[in-house]
Amino acid sequence: MKIKKCLFPAAGYGTRFLPATKATPKEMLPVLTKPLIQYGVEEALEAGLNTMAVVTGRGKRAIEDHFDISYELEHQIKGTSKEHYLSEIRSVITNCTFSYTRQIEMKGLGHAILCGETLIGNEPFAVVLADDLCDNEDDGVLSQMVEVYNKYKCSVVAIEEVPIEDTNKYGVIAGSIISDSDQESSLYQVTDMVEKPDPKDAPTNLAIIGRYILTPDIFDILRKTKPGKGGEIQITDALLEQAKLGNVIAYKFKGKRFDCGSVDGFVEATNYFYEKTVLPD
Ligand code: UTP
Repeated sequence: MKIKKCLFPAAGYGTRFLPATKATPKEMLPVLTKPLIQYGVEEALEAGLNTMAVVTGRGKRAIEDHFDISYELEHQIKGTSKEHYLSEIRSVITNCTFSYTRQIEMKGLGHAILCGETLIGNEPFAVVLADDLCDNEDDGVLSQMVEVYNKYKCSVVAIEEVPIEDTNKYGVIAGSIISDSDQESSLYQVTDMVEKPDPKDAPTNLAIIGRYILTPDIFDILRKTKPGKGGEIQITDALLEQAKLGNVIAYKFKGKRFDCGSVDGFVEATNYFYEKTVLPD
């Protein structure tokens, strides 16, 4: 089955960006002139996914407004030299649909994904954590992952090597290489996964970043998944159940990833995109 839908869990509090995130969703923080979540939506569109499903929470209404027409604004700048500022977002709105549901209590990423079941249904889907901002000169990370999914038809997680002292910030995998066809990318059959392990307990330094393709059986597994690390329902624990059946592939993607959930990563992303982007006058 072709992947058409992309889920954006966006209910988190973004405490590392307080006070900016007190009344503004973290996903709406801009890197240059574009909010983080728009980068994620554009990456999904590029991968051929045109149905966006967003899990929001209280105080996140700005996300819905962003992906809607603002008649007053359109009217105000129509025919002026400023009209082109809206062309990118107009194109996004024209080319995909958005639906929303709320996560009432923040019980973790796994729980947020389970909340998205009503919007996804019984089909494979992608998940994008908008605070992980990815960029690649050629195919985007999600496009690369869709290709992997189309070949193997199982869940796919994007991974990158991180310094071993940082493993306690990520879900970490262990696995056996199934393909190392070129130097930049490789595929692993996942054999183990641990959420935020201490460096001394980490099976590897291969960390899961905020891009997933999930098969819909994940919802039943999540329903049965008990709270794990930090008392939250962890997607890593649910994926481990699929991995035990040989149904998870980890993909070392081509491209760059910025952790825009942290101030350092956000500044790094801003500098990177400033260097490579020519902003319209
Ligand atoms: P994070 O832990 O990075 O985001 O969750 P956060 O909680 O918003 O940020 P901090 O740590 O307080 O600064 C990863 C992703 O999962 C979503 C978040 O919105 C983010 O995109 N998430 C997490 C949910 O949607 N619901 C949850 O209960 C937890």
